[in-house]
Amino acid sequence: MISLGIESTAHTLGIGIVKDGKVLSNEMDTFKPANEGILPRKAADHHAECMSRVLGLALGKAKLKMKDIDLIAFSQGPGIGAPLAVGIAGAKYLASRNGKKIIGVNHCYAHIAISEHLTGLHDPLVLYLSGGNSQILVRQDDRWHVLGETLDIGIGNLFDTFGRSIGMKYAHGAELEKLASKGKYVELPYSVKGMNLVFSGLLTQAQKLAKTHKKEDIAFSLMETSFAMACEATERALFLTRKKKLICCGGVAQNKRLQQMLRTMCDEDGVQFGVAPNEFNRDNGAMIAYAGEVLFKKYGAMRMEKCIPITNYRIEIMDEVFGE
Ligand code: FE2
Repeated sequence: MISLGIESTAHTLGIGIVKDGKVLSNEMDTFKPANEGILPRKAADHHAECMSRVLGLALGKAKLKMKDIDLIAFSQGPGIGAPLAVGIAGAKYLASRNGKKIIGVNHCYAHIAISEHLTGLHDPLVLYLSGGNSQILVRQDDRWHVLGETLDIGIGNLFDTFGRSIGMKYAHGAELEKLASKGKYVELPYSVKGMNLVFSGLLTQAQKLAKTHKKEDIAFSLMETSFAMACEATERALFLTRKKKLICCGGVAQNKRLQQMLRTMCDEDGVQFGVAPNEFNRDNGAMIAYAGEVLFKKYGAMRMEKCIPITNYRIEIMDEVFGE
């Protein structure tokens, strides 16, 4: 089976092609706002403008034509309404114009599925950290359950908001990671509630201290503190579930210091740790294509009238979305 996946939940328009689990191409274009959050309308315009070019690149790299594709998979949510709608409209157009089957994919599930596939760690505990999401998940009886999560903002959102407040030109986790590499530790509020995380107090104090301390010290301490919080909650979930495998996925999973902290924790606890290559932790089309392929085998194609954005699509309701 050859599956083409379209990702458009936030600032990245990604199109990837997967054949029976093998990634043939994974092209993307990311909207980069200058020192502001993602404005939905601008992200949607960006995706509409670059979609046919990214599609051409993805097909070209895979050495395929539209006629070779069996399934069009699209990211159905969670995400921002306007950019999500552009990706879905594109997927529906391609499917109806070319007579292809279509399927909607939960974005969070896609990060997990491609990470399980590429690391070879099946049935793990999952730490999913991205801009809008921070969750600890486990699969039981073929359903995903959220054991713990952020009670306010996502960890990536914490970094982006802090980056913007200290005037970073392109406030992005990777830029903050560079700044943090030169920093020293300053104490910041630490807030873990069972397996849940709270970041807003940490953000407020970091913003306050950034006015009187070196920016690199606060950037370093912000990352160090929030990653330690994520590690503590994850370790609690590992002991509770007795899982011996841990996967970290999502945009923030690319952070090398986070990976180092999780690896150290897993080594001490006798747990195998895995993380997919960066390309698949960013928002990307190949993970949507791969997850689409897996879900198609389980549920079959989606009816066209069900192909609508679900902006608050939680992984726990996947069965209901397919079952109706
Ligand atoms: Fe993501």
